[in-house]
Amino acid sequence: MLEKITSNFQSPKDNFFGRLLLRMMNFGHRSISRLATSQLPKDADFKEIIDIGCGGGWTISRLLKTWSGARVHGLDVSEAAVEKSREYNAEAIADGRCKVELGSVAKMPYETDFFDAATAVETAYFWDPIDDALKEVYRCLKPGGWFVIALEAGTKGQARFWSRHVEGMHPYDADYLKEHLLAAGFSSVNVERRLVYACIVARK
Ligand SMILES: C[S@@+](CC[C@H](N)C(=O)[O-])C[C@H]1O[C@@H](n2cnc3c(N)ncnc32)[C@H](O)[C@@H]1O
Repeated sequence: MLEKITSNFQSPKDNFFGRLLLRMMNFGHRSISRLATSQLPKDADFKEIIDIGCGGGWTISRLLKTWSGARVHGLDVSEAAVEKSREYNAEAIADGRCKVELGSVAKMPYETDFFDAATAVETAYFWDPIDDALKEVYRCLKPGGWFVIALEAGTKGQARFWSRHVEGMHPYDADYLKEHLLAAGFSSVNVERRLVYACIVARK
């Protein structure tokens, strides 16, 4: 039973367990999602924000509320996730403030220097190869743009433990990602830790 759920973390399938997981993540990831969005300046005049690996769409809804002048995009490789995110944010989509696309971080369907900020909550472990993904996020951010990666398994031990149990998960911990963000060209990369949670905040 647990395996039927964890096998969906990498890319929720369009079946009972995939849809159940998307609903569960919209509740269960609220603390980590709040921690991620709280790393961004509340009073910034953001115009375009993206949540990468948006899952069921809860982080998108939080970004829409916090930066009411911004358009918020969602990107995910899973069709079930895209559908759930669109359903969860249907009102904002109808108002033209939100757009959710099917696609991978490895080849983001956006122009260069487009986003003011990007978030990635509980998804970076699945990005492979990680360096290509980080370079692609870097390309899509405006100069000075913000990138927040949030990890529930932020310590080396946690990342190693969960990667043995979750299909497609790599044991990337916060220090590893910091090193690779710097190699991708990001500057002022900082790691914020709360218990086992970690947020890595980077600027282009
Ligand atoms: C564990 S879920 C987290 C979802 C959501 N961010 C949350 O916190 O509830 C991981 C999500 O990342 C997506 N994902 C995995 N690899 C991806 C990739 N290469 N590009 C975009 N999304 C990806 C999955 O489809 C899934 O929806």
